[in-house]
Amino acid sequence: MKINWNMLKTKYIWQNGQLIDWDNAYTHVLTHALHYGSAVFEGVRFYETPKGPAIFRLKEHTDRLFYSAGALGMDIPYTKDEINQAIIEVVKTSGEKSGYIRPLAYYGAGKMGLNPTGSPVDVIIACWPWGKYLGDEKLKVCISKYIRIHPQSTISDAKIAGHYINSILTSFESHKKGFHEALLLDFEGNIAEGPGENFFMVKDKKLYTVPLGRILNGITRASIIKLAQDEGIEVIERHIGPEEAKASDELFYTGTAAEISAISQLEDTVIGNSGEEGNMTRMLREKFYNIVEGRDDKYADWLTLVD
Ligand SMILES: Cc1ncc(COP(=O)(O)O)c(C=O)c1O
Repeated sequence: MKINWNMLKTKYIWQNGQLIDWDNAYTHVLTHALHYGSAVFEGVRFYETPKGPAIFRLKEHTDRLFYSAGALGMDIPYTKDEINQAIIEVVKTSGEKSGYIRPLAYYGAGKMGLNPTGSPVDVIIACWPWGKYLGDEKLKVCISKYIRIHPQSTISDAKIAGHYINSILTSFESHKKGFHEALLLDFEGNIAEGPGENFFMVKDKKLYTVPLGRILNGITRASIIKLAQDEGIEVIERHIGPEEAKASDELFYTGTAAEISAISQLEDTVIGNSGEEGNMTRMLREKFYNIVEGRDDKYADWLTLVD
């Protein structure tokens, strides 16, 4: 099969316990997940450090993968430790110094119908080089007409592939309107999160973020909360309305792909005085890069060295 890859390939993909050539990693067209979105996944980054490539918060990502699988009644046929080792192997054999890792577990082929019980569970892990997800531009964000998936419609804090139609629709919408990214509200009109990012607000030197329950329990979010608290910053988790956000001093998104990205404009309101990255965002972003790039020993246990 000839595929035009609009991404940088690496050599191998780990598929059900084996390293397969990237070009030969296939699944059947009757794969359950392809029809119904019954897959769970992670996005993980690895960074170049003085000690070689290092994976950021590997354990937490693997824990969340298993949590998401549990939400779908899926028994991953490997232990967490086997998945961690496989992720390390994929990064190591890629030869890349930094990039993005995609572990995915899905209900495979063999059975149709909505109830996947009895379907095989297949697992793949791929990695590839991936630079800045949201680019270097200052982010212009619009409020989506779509709300974040309702917590009573699904297990909304599991990272289930089917949920991402919600994110895909908001991405179409924001790009069509000339914005870089969307912001989704929850079913009560509070801010929920971005299509693939958690939301933070700075006001009067305090840091605010949306409480867990209706959003993805972001690993970058948890890391930023910890870093801020270690710096003596008060962190408040509570609901935030869009008008309050527009009147804030700083706004930013966090996520594995997006990392720490300042929001310069929400709808047509410029954030802060100038829309420039604010002091607290900059401080936290610089601290974050010092950690992931291996320059801050205090958080060395957040990194898993590959070599
Ligand atoms: C919907 C959504 N929210 C937030 C995030 C950020 O989470 P993390 O920091 O764990 O990547 C992601 C990315 O995984 C996401 O898909």
